[in-house]
Amino acid sequence: MNNTRNAVYPGSYDPITNGHIDIIKRGLRIFDNVTVAVLTNPAKQSLFTLEERLDMIHKCFADNPRIQVDSFKGLLVDYLDKKKIHTVVRGLRAISDFEVEFQMALMNRRINREVETIFLVPSVCYSFLSSRLVKEIYRLGGSIPQMVPELVDQRLKDKYHK
Ligand code: PNS
Repeated sequence: MNNTRNAVYPGSYDPITNGHIDIIKRGLRIFDNVTVAVLTNPAKQSLFTLEERLDMIHKCFADNPRIQVDSFKGLLVDYLDKKKIHTVVRGLRAISDFEVEFQMALMNRRINREVETIFLVPSVCYSFLSSRLVKEIYRLGGSIPQMVPELVDQRLKDKYHK
């Protein structure tokens, strides 16, 4: 019997932040493997292409064989079936995240009763961090290198100011 505990951490990762990395590391305290699954959503405008987002995540975890990096399109529950992993990890930063995350978790479970969602709480220093705010700050000429990996900091500067 295979007792390996696996989880999927889905998201847009546009781009990955230190908040995501904090959740992934916390996930590895509970699970043997965490698959970071990047959503391909042609309907949603992203700053970084799917390839760029995957590349940044790959580079962040190049030396960790317990972290897999993948992409998916369509329904998360279908991707979970395909991977034969039915545990989802999501981060809860604040109460404001709760409503949408709760809805998503219940809806995913409504579609497939096998699906369980585990919410992890990030370090308080990332509790106000989001990819959306990071992009806004860099777009307007600011930078917050302590909130994103070094290579993401550089890629954001290149994207907006080269
Ligand atoms: O990083 P994000 O943007 O908060 O991640 C949201 C994500 C990708 C987890 C969510 O939008 C998702 O699972 N999308 C896939 C489509 C889907 O399954 N939609 C129904 C959700 S109940």
